Amino acid sequence: MKLDELLGLITKFIGGILTFTVLIFLFLVFLWTNPTVFSNKSVNPEDWQPKNPLTDIPDDQKHKLVKYGYQLVVESSKYMGPMAENPKVRYAGNNLSCQNCHLKAGTTRGSASFVGVSNRFPQFRGRENKQGNLAERINGCMERSMNGKAMPVESTQMKAIIAYMDWLSEGVPPEKEAEYKGFVKVEIPDIKADLVKGKEIYTLQCIRCHMEDGQGMRPDPKAKHLYPPLWGTDTYNHGAGMHRVLTAAQFIKASMPFEESTWDNPKLTDEEAYHVAAYINSFPRPQKSNPEVDFPDKKLKPVSTPYGPWVDKFSPEQHKYGPFPPIVEWYQKEYGIKKTK
Ligand code: HEC
Ligand code: HEC
Repeated sequence: MKLDELLGLITKFIGGILTFTVLIFLFLVFLWTNPTVFSNKSVNPEDWQPKNPLTDIPDDQKHKLVKYGYQLVVESSKYMGPMAENPKVRYAGNNLSCQNCHLKAGTTRGSASFVGVSNRFPQFRGRENKQGNLAERINGCMERSMNGKAMPVESTQMKAIIAYMDWLSEGVPPEKEAEYKGFVKVEIPDIKADLVKGKEIYTLQCIRCHMEDGQGMRPDPKAKHLYPPLWGTDTYNHGAGMHRVLTAAQFIKASMPFEESTWDNPKLTDEEAYHVAAYINSFPRPQKSNPEVDFPDKKLKPVSTPYGPWVDKFSPEQHKYGPFPPIVEWYQKEYGIKKTK
């Protein structure tokens, strides 16, 4: 072997070692910045569980905002509603909590959970006829479900709620996102909702917690409701999603009676959920201001939106109590729009 050949071999050898070291280094950097990449692979999506905010929020500085967001969702009235000490942060106008509808702090299937929600925004919103972000969606519930006023995007409260939702949405297997999203399906009955039947179901299934007058129970008037009100002054307003009979029926089917119904084992039939949803929505409640500006493109209004104007000729009564299939068919025929709610 000549000297220059030997030198060539040595150079190659050193070059190889260098390349190898650089590769190892890059790999370590990758692991360092993506710590869960391998641990997650071993979790079978079927065994996956959403994070539990009670036990899983780390007790460090970084997660302080997440913890605060959790508290806001669970005790909205105390921290950002009528009971808040600082009048400036009384954004919610009623004493409901987000989790009265988004059960178990938004971790339960069948009640529009927050698990994965951050991954779905921004999205197109018919109510505003534009691309909307998560903060705008949260304010949609603030102004309607919570009968309050929009929180500034830069407020600590808004940032905290979003931080909490982001935390819940981390690492959700794609297979699980759909399962945790939205409500369960309800076959839309081909009849008008029957308030007499609704009252019978209410008496049998709901009265023991929400009471005959629909005001629920609040044993300690300085604390949140034990059982939240369904109508009257201290609940969601007439512009809320829950005020649509079809949306309320979907929520009720999977979630009520509380702790008896589940998304995969509902207690009421679709028709029962429909009649009782109409019953609870037949009573007076707070009125949202300027409801006529909702859905700038009126064709996109859900069929059971109980307030006008509509582009169709169906009566306000029919938009509130059905029967809905004729309205659904009309939009399909007239505009080729397939409505599900
Ligand atoms: C009275 C019941 C009720 C309350 C209280 C309520 N919401 Fe909602 N929320 C709903 C309904 C119903 C929907 C779905 C509406 C629809 O389908 O159009 C929804 C949807 C949402 C969504 C979108 C979910 C998704 O998967 O796209 C977010 C985010 C949200 N709410 C946040 C909140 C927050 C934060 C609070 C408390 C400040 C709150 N909500 C209080 C009933 C409620
Ligand atoms: C065992 C008690 C119980 C029964 C029975 C029950 N609920 Fe509820 N309901 C609750 C509780 C508790 C919440 C709030 C959940 C939370 O904060 O975790 C709630 C929330 C609700 C909400 C959303 C919040 C609001 O104020 O609008 C609606 C709507 C509702 N229930 C309707 C019904 C209907 C309809 C029935 C009968 C089919 C029913 N519930 C039966 C306990 C009950």
